[in-house]
Amino acid sequence: MEVIIQRDAQSASVVAARLISQLLREKPNAVLGLVAGQSPLPLYSELVRKHREGHIDFSRVTVFTMDEFVGIPPDHPASYSSFIRRHFLDHVNIPAEQIRMPDGRAHDIPEHCRAYEAAIRHAGGIDLQILGIGTEGHIGFNEPTSSLASRTRTKTLTPRTRRDFAPQFGGEDRVPNFILTMGLGTIMEARQCMLLAFGKTKANAIARTIEGPVTAMMPASILQMHPVVKVFLDQPAAALLQNTSYYQWVYDGKPEWQKF
Ligand code: GLP
Repeated sequence: MEVIIQRDAQSASVVAARLISQLLREKPNAVLGLVAGQSPLPLYSELVRKHREGHIDFSRVTVFTMDEFVGIPPDHPASYSSFIRRHFLDHVNIPAEQIRMPDGRAHDIPEHCRAYEAAIRHAGGIDLQILGIGTEGHIGFNEPTSSLASRTRTKTLTPRTRRDFAPQFGGEDRVPNFILTMGLGTIMEARQCMLLAFGKTKANAIARTIEGPVTAMMPASILQMHPVVKVFLDQPAAALLQNTSYYQWVYDGKPEWQKF
């Protein structure tokens, strides 16, 4: 894993956006995996800014989003689809037919999940998967004890997660019980992963993900087995890492051809 620690979320996201610009220069028809949540918001803003200033063209890009609540329409304000549209897709030029999202209202959920995996394969696989991390180490909605080989499927939300989402849904009893999420096995097939984590509430999960053992109790730790992962952190999220000076030394000493 390559660990990139910057002063704050904004500076880390500017560096992360440079990596995406570079990918799109090399491969204008790249396939991106998108995620909802607070962590990618400064990255999305920076990508939108670059697009508005004419530095990035998304017209040939295909995107797959990571997860969705079951049973709510995509235009529900709390759905992940509407979140990602509001914060990113509505502001860039990705054609509608190149935007794929899990459908929380699918009739036959197992079949829908199989079709989602097939669509990713059909698009040539994900070139770069953007990830956030939950305080207990989940990526997507792959909560602790999720199979490290899991595929896109439905999962039951924990009572704690349902409580956390109560404000968005107008009460805990309105939060869906189930979600659809890409699996850890699906994420591991992306050619490159970018994990974004900011703030001290993420410090423990980040230290265990990067420097702890690979375990289903810390689902993001499976990324240690992935050949190309870049982790973008602010200083509070990096606070519990043991090897920060080494990561900084590696980043500062990158050869010219590896810089982004
Ligand atoms: C949620 C989502 C994840 C997200 C994570 C962190 O539960 N399912 O995809 O990465 O929690 O969210 P945030 O970035 O808002 O901290």
